[in-house]
Amino acid sequence: MCCRVRFGKSGLSVSPICYGSWQLSPRYWGELPAEQFKKAIHRAFDVGVNFFDTADAYGDGLSEQVLGEALADLPREEIVVATKVYWHFYPDGRRHPDLSADYIIRECEQSLKRLKMDYVDIYLLHAYDPLTPLEETTEALEKLYRAGKIRYYGASNFTVEQMRYACKLGNYVALQPRYSLIDREIEKDLLPYCAIEDIGVFVFSPLYHGLLTGKYQGTETFEDFRKNLPRFQGEKFKQITDAVRGLKPIADKYQMSLVQLILAATLAHPAVHCAIVGIKNASQIEEAAGAMGKSIEREDYFAIRNALNV
Ligand SMILES: NC(=O)c1ccc[n+]([C@@H]2O[C@H](COP(=O)([O-])OP(=O)(O)OC[C@H]3O[C@@H](n4cnc5c(N)ncnc54)[C@H](OP(=O)(O)O)[C@@H]3O)[C@@H](O)[C@H]2O)c1
Repeated sequence: MCCRVRFGKSGLSVSPICYGSWQLSPRYWGELPAEQFKKAIHRAFDVGVNFFDTADAYGDGLSEQVLGEALADLPREEIVVATKVYWHFYPDGRRHPDLSADYIIRECEQSLKRLKMDYVDIYLLHAYDPLTPLEETTEALEKLYRAGKIRYYGASNFTVEQMRYACKLGNYVALQPRYSLIDREIEKDLLPYCAIEDIGVFVFSPLYHGLLTGKYQGTETFEDFRKNLPRFQGEKFKQITDAVRGLKPIADKYQMSLVQLILAATLAHPAVHCAIVGIKNASQIEEAAGAMGKSIEREDYFAIRNALNV
């Protein structure tokens, strides 16, 4: 049942499906019962998932806190936890970017407290802060590394130039970019760069926030942040959802669900180590985990990509 990949030069052994916990951000996704979320985390571990992604800013600390409570029941040395820093948030809901050294050092401590952990495995810069020299930020990360608070560090939402710059300054071993079969921009330069540098890549939004699951008809309306996304509206929404459901014969051929087919095809790119799937309940992670270790023939892989070129 346990499927593991080597996460680039970090050498960490991780499940190709990573548990995404942004869903515990009420401002984006609405309220989600914490108990349901904790059950899903335990189920994730039972079905072979050992990799968990969060961020201090998800729910302004809520995601880290609930994840920490659930993970406390699991063997620490068998799980890999990634969290992020960047959004300086305040109790009244204000937030702004901040990768200054002082803030990172302070905020890492807060993340550890919420996670109830002595260290995080991977600490990520959530995005690029144009106001702070990356030299200062990297020194802070090195300090946390030397203090044993973080085992590895990396970045998210960086361009290839930002990543190149980062790798000159420090030992950045992980990247978390946006990537899905309808969002393949990074294939041009970021993924080749990461492959050459042996950087561990875990992509976010592989199901495009649920759009690629096959469960939508293209007529639904949303109460959460998706109500403002162009691809969840009008003709585009219908075209994409039709295209996904049109992949059913290929999914059937591999005895996979559409969710599993999309995830297996996302993971087929050689530079992508893991796909982070945003999870709301135990059955979603159970289904996603079923994509691990599955391969797709070349002809079908390109047929899937072509079908989603809408
Ligand atoms: N670094 C960053 O800037 C960044 C940004 C975004 C996300 N992330 C990370 O990446 C994770 C995933 O991204 P994401 O949440 O945007 O997108 P996603 O994984 O593409 O989509 C998640 C959504 O798909 C639906 N879903 C998931 N599994 C399903 C299943 N088996 N069957 C049916 N529906 C299913 C759920 O929505 P419904 O049930 O409501 O349809 C869920 O909320 C996040 O949780 C977070 O950890 C990082």
